[in-house]
Amino acid sequence: MEYLIYKSMALVTPGSAACRDIVTVSQRNNAGLGLTGFLHAEDGLFIQYLEGPPKPLWALYERLHGDDRHRDLVLLGHGAPRRRRFGDWRLGYSEAGVLSFADFLEEVSMPGAVEPTPPADAIMFLMAASIRLDLGIAEPPQHAWR
Ligand SMILES: Cc1cc2nc3c(=O)[nH]c(=O)nc-3n(C[C@H](O)[C@H](O)[C@H](O)COP(=O)(O)O)c2cc1C
Repeated sequence: MEYLIYKSMALVTPGSAACRDIVTVSQRNNAGLGLTGFLHAEDGLFIQYLEGPPKPLWALYERLHGDDRHRDLVLLGHGAPRRRRFGDWRLGYSEAGVLSFADFLEEVSMPGAVEPTPPADAIMFLMAASIRLDLGIAEPPQHAWR
């Protein structure tokens, strides 16, 4: 079991049909590959956490580089989680209305610190978004694909 987390520049609008299509296809594919994870879409930004068997995991990451719905992928971190972090989610999905990444970073950052997104912060953010959806604290994106 391994995980990876990356960010990319989104070339589709959150909530658009093109974005929904990514989630629908991914949920179907990931279920078959034993992958789970979470995708967050914000204006101009995707952050995705994926976990599962290393072979399909890294093959997907390779495939993602050829997808023209985003670009400039940056691998923020990878490793071996002790257990699945998103076991219930074939691919959870959130948008800025659930929790804004910019707001989150502002809350966790030291005032004045200008640093690239630390992977731990990005993972915490995605987990916080999924927990808010689970607890019903935040409204799921207009179309819930769970
Ligand atoms: C931001 C983003 C996240 C994606 N996440 C996944 C994913 O979790 N699983 C998946 O199978 N495809 C995902 N895709 C789509 C893949 O890039 C690819 O289109 C899909 O796996 C089908 O590949 P194929 O046409 O070679 O079969 C994602 C695409 C984007 C732009």
